Amino acid sequence: MKISFTLNGKSTEVDVAPDRRVVDLLREDLRLTGTKEGCGAGECGACTILVNGESRLSCLMLAAQLEGRCVTTIEGIGEEGRLHPVQEAFIECGAVQCGFCSPGMVISAVDLLGRDPNPGRGEIRRGLSGNLCRCTGYVKIVDAVETAARRMNAASDVKPDAGEKERVVPGAPGQGQRR
Ligand code: FES
Ligand code: FES
Repeated sequence: MKISFTLNGKSTEVDVAPDRRVVDLLREDLRLTGTKEGCGAGECGACTILVNGESRLSCLMLAAQLEGRCVTTIEGIGEEGRLHPVQEAFIECGAVQCGFCSPGMVISAVDLLGRDPNPGRGEIRRGLSGNLCRCTGYVKIVDAVETAARRMNAASDVKPDAGEKERVVPGAPGQGQRR
């Protein structure tokens, strides 16, 4: 079955069994190995991607469900040559240890900040509750999301006519789909 969708901003067509899991399509067929598979059963969040701007578990999605959709994986979350502010904050705050959970964690954080640009620590914890981490104890992850939110809000306050070029950030407030 031919499936057409947008993947990290590029029109993509694949010939794939309609019941192939999206995580397998991404990792094995398209070699986008940034998306991780942990449990394969919808429990850990490691396989999280954005579909039409909303976080989805790619281990629970079938390839046919991507038809006509817009998919963003961790490989497409930043800009060319520049990390997303959430990725930068994860590095700065020491929120990455083994890194296995990090792509899904970052995607969920981007989704959260798209819906709520200024979440409190409790809201961040709730927003990331579907993503499990075995290493960090979560405190630094929450610190990172807080830091990213502060920076993204400050950046969106900068007026283009003040000589600052507007930055397009996937999942940033006003640029993604809302639930
Ligand atoms: S691999 Fe998809 S939720 Fe764990
Ligand atoms: S950093 Fe190792 S699982 Fe989260």
